[in-house]
Amino acid sequence: MVPDKVEQLVGAIITAGDRRYRALIGEHLLHEIGERCRTIGFSGRCAVISDTNVAALSSDRVKQSLAAADFQSTLITIPAGEKSKTLEQAGAICDQMIASGLDRQSFIVGLGGGVVGDISGFVAAIYHRGIPHVQIPTTLLAMVDSSIGGKTGVNTAAGKNLIGAVHPPSLVIDDVDLLKTLRQREFNQGFAEIIKHAIIADREMFQTVVQHPKLRANESASSKLALLIKRNIRIKSAIVACDERDRTGERAILNFGHTVGHAIERAGNYREFLHGEAVSLGIVAACAISIKKAGLPPNQRDAIVDLLRRFDLPTQLPPNFSREKIFAALPYDKKFESGHIRFIVTPRIGTAHITNDVTLDDIREAVDEL
Ligand SMILES: NC(=O)c1ccc[n+]([C@@H]2O[C@H](COP(=O)([O-])OP(=O)(O)OC[C@H]3O[C@@H](n4cnc5c(N)ncnc54)[C@H](O)[C@@H]3O)[C@@H](O)[C@H]2O)c1
Ligand SMILES: [Zn+2]
Repeated sequence: MVPDKVEQLVGAIITAGDRRYRALIGEHLLHEIGERCRTIGFSGRCAVISDTNVAALSSDRVKQSLAAADFQSTLITIPAGEKSKTLEQAGAICDQMIASGLDRQSFIVGLGGGVVGDISGFVAAIYHRGIPHVQIPTTLLAMVDSSIGGKTGVNTAAGKNLIGAVHPPSLVIDDVDLLKTLRQREFNQGFAEIIKHAIIADREMFQTVVQHPKLRANESASSKLALLIKRNIRIKSAIVACDERDRTGERAILNFGHTVGHAIERAGNYREFLHGEAVSLGIVAACAISIKKAGLPPNQRDAIVDLLRRFDLPTQLPPNFSREKIFAALPYDKKFESGHIRFIVTPRIGTAHITNDVTLDDIREAVDEL
């Protein structure tokens, strides 16, 4: 039975190496942030890092809550959008923190989507060689994916996330109320990662989403949404716990749909498709490859495509979109050519594994069919 209101809070304990941190998921959580930071033993000053959109909507509430718990906070705002996720911007944030007198005892609160989460986490990893980080994700994608797992970083001209650190947060606070101001397209893209999690690890959740396709960020859906977010956090954190630093291969299954997805994102100059939209297309391609190489039943591919469409996620490329650009953007190297690439396939909804049995031709064929 799902309670009407999120009663009052659902949470997940996440293991990161020898540390553990909590993710709290519920409604009206922003005003508790100060108190929550005290409970986990923080003292001193903090920087609230946000972007221009989110700061205008929510930073006052966060600062008030911190002040009520006797924390002195400095708001640092970056322009909204992926273009802010740079080393220069991280340096500028550090400079502002130094100017504000933040020191080794200070902590950072990242208030925003995945961009703010990644850059504020990266600054937390390097400032005074590492200070604590609290994540307040404000997009669905950030709640179910980027705020969990400790990967932080920035982009360079050569590619995305090439510079970074693994620096797990001390606390994650997911206030589902924040999602009400999110644009529908941004909300929907979070479902690409939710559907990905279902495909790789949770057949039951796949059915749950099939049964509640009209999940929206409104009052009546808040409790269902909170439980769904919690389930996704559990899936991602369980996978990450086996392979936090992405060394042994377990974490790689989270990349299902991402080999082609990233190439599409790049081919569209990071403008044509949102990340989740590119991943949706990448999932469709990975399903075609899974039918051929892992025995995925075609009716399960159809069910996946159907579900992606229900969230208005793209499952076909626009006819004039250059396939050649996608091939050029694939993480192409010699190993790729000789067939020894690591590709994630699903033999059936609820499970996935790495194979080195997929060739560039298989990928070309799947992209041609998109
Ligand atoms: N670290 C990881 O493991 C990981 C995983 C997946 C993605 N990522 C990263 O996450 C980033 C994408 O994250 P994103 O999709 O959240 O993008 P984003 O942070 O750019 O947010 C999307 C847009 O929504 C706005 N916004 C955010 N919250 C809002 C709210 N509550 N109401 C209204 N507007 C709001 C933002 O200002 C922005 O314009 C990428 O940089 C990607 O590399 C990281
Ligand atoms: Zn992703």
